[in-house]
Amino acid sequence: MEQLIIKGGRPLRGNISISGAKNAAVAIIPAALATEGICTVENLPHIEDVIGYTSVLEAIGAKCTFLNKSTLQIDTRGMSESSTTVTHENLKDMRASYYLIGALLGRFKKVSVTMPGGCNFGERPIGLHMKGFEVLGATVVQEHGFIHVYADKLVGGHIYLDVASVGATINIMMAACYAEGTTTIDNAAKEPHIVDCANFLNMCGANIKGAGTEVIRITGVGGLKGCDYTIIPDQIEAGTYMMAAAITRGNVKVNNVIPKHMESLSAKLQEMGCNVTSGDDWIRVDATNKELLSTTVMTQYYPGFPTDLQPQMTTLLTQGNEVSYMHENIFSNRYQYIDQLMRLGAKIKTEGRMAVVQGPSSLTGADVIATDLRAGAALVLAGLAAKGITKISNIQYIDRGYENIEEKLSSLGADIRRVTTDGDEEQAHLEVV
Ligand code: EPU
Repeated sequence: MEQLIIKGGRPLRGNISISGAKNAAVAIIPAALATEGICTVENLPHIEDVIGYTSVLEAIGAKCTFLNKSTLQIDTRGMSESSTTVTHENLKDMRASYYLIGALLGRFKKVSVTMPGGCNFGERPIGLHMKGFEVLGATVVQEHGFIHVYADKLVGGHIYLDVASVGATINIMMAACYAEGTTTIDNAAKEPHIVDCANFLNMCGANIKGAGTEVIRITGVGGLKGCDYTIIPDQIEAGTYMMAAAITRGNVKVNNVIPKHMESLSAKLQEMGCNVTSGDDWIRVDATNKELLSTTVMTQYYPGFPTDLQPQMTTLLTQGNEVSYMHENIFSNRYQYIDQLMRLGAKIKTEGRMAVVQGPSSLTGADVIATDLRAGAALVLAGLAAKGITKISNIQYIDRGYENIEEKLSSLGADIRRVTTDGDEEQAHLEVV
């Protein structure tokens, strides 16, 4: 078992480069299965969710070759109808396995896949994805832990999403590339990775218009071919490092970002008293010697404040000068990490979807457990701010979404290291104390 061990209290300073976007990568990798040819995908983050997905693709006949750490070539020419039954042990940990349905249904008109896994923070249904496939003329059968979706042919239609689901929008978009006529998705999600995935599909020959707005129109095309594509930077990784700068009262220039994607966070950090400046592809957060001010944050669909930055922001709010309020509007149970934060001295009460955060808390290091990916990132931030040693277990969650987190933070001056427990743990503790 691995742990992260952090000796907190050091202001982070320097430059850091953001990796490619996880949630774009885990959509675009399966989207490649909808093409027949060779896709070369660049700027992929080297994280467990990406590596795990390539094994799944290999198992169903797509050839995956890493040309370098961040460039993956996917050759789908050897795939056949037998590629449409997908069972792989990696699927139980992957939320984004649902994209296999849209990609394979489009190209082969049938798919059977195990139910998606992934981070557990409340109800995460996929009924809207299925509703979309049914509008396109597919039959959906769910039994024995499998989802089977099949159709003689797909025909374009009008789909109104009750909630602007990221997964449903991308999934329906992929299948609709192969539907006859035009499909309209109303109340579509607008997150940056929706646009990235649509751009990828369009480079492969699709006809998708309106991605990034509430109405997306997809006109079916006979088939998709391979292409070369570069993934956008990760909005959530960038936001996590921006908050790492703030919580340690540091000064960090975050490079390889799209500042527009960061606006909801930049505005909050400014409101809290940080100095935030930006250029074409960078943002600097300077919190040197600043008193952080309390505030209210509400998670919303893009361009609102992302739910995937909520745990990190709640952690930062523990350093606000008075009481702050967090409202989680997307997921019903995304506060499971708060018990762990309280072990470090945070004073937080939850009332339904609201967290009331009493600041400023003087955090002190403790042993904690990551309960999911962003919860793990929140504990890293808390550990960086806390006095003494914080040991974080269950860091496989963090590795699912953050490339080289300890190397990136160390380069900014953090005292953080990864250790393998089983005997090494005690030694590591002695080394860092
Ligand atoms: N929803 C439904 N019915 C559906 C689908 C969704 O009611 O059929 C609801 C959900 O219950 C939730 C809301 O819609 O309340 C949003 O869910 P969405 O479908 O947008 O989430 P997702 O596709 O499961 C993706 C990201 C998550 C991110 C959310 C919201 C991927 C692989 N995952 O999940 O990322 O939190 O969108 O932005 O893209 C993460 O990176 O840590 C992560 C969890």
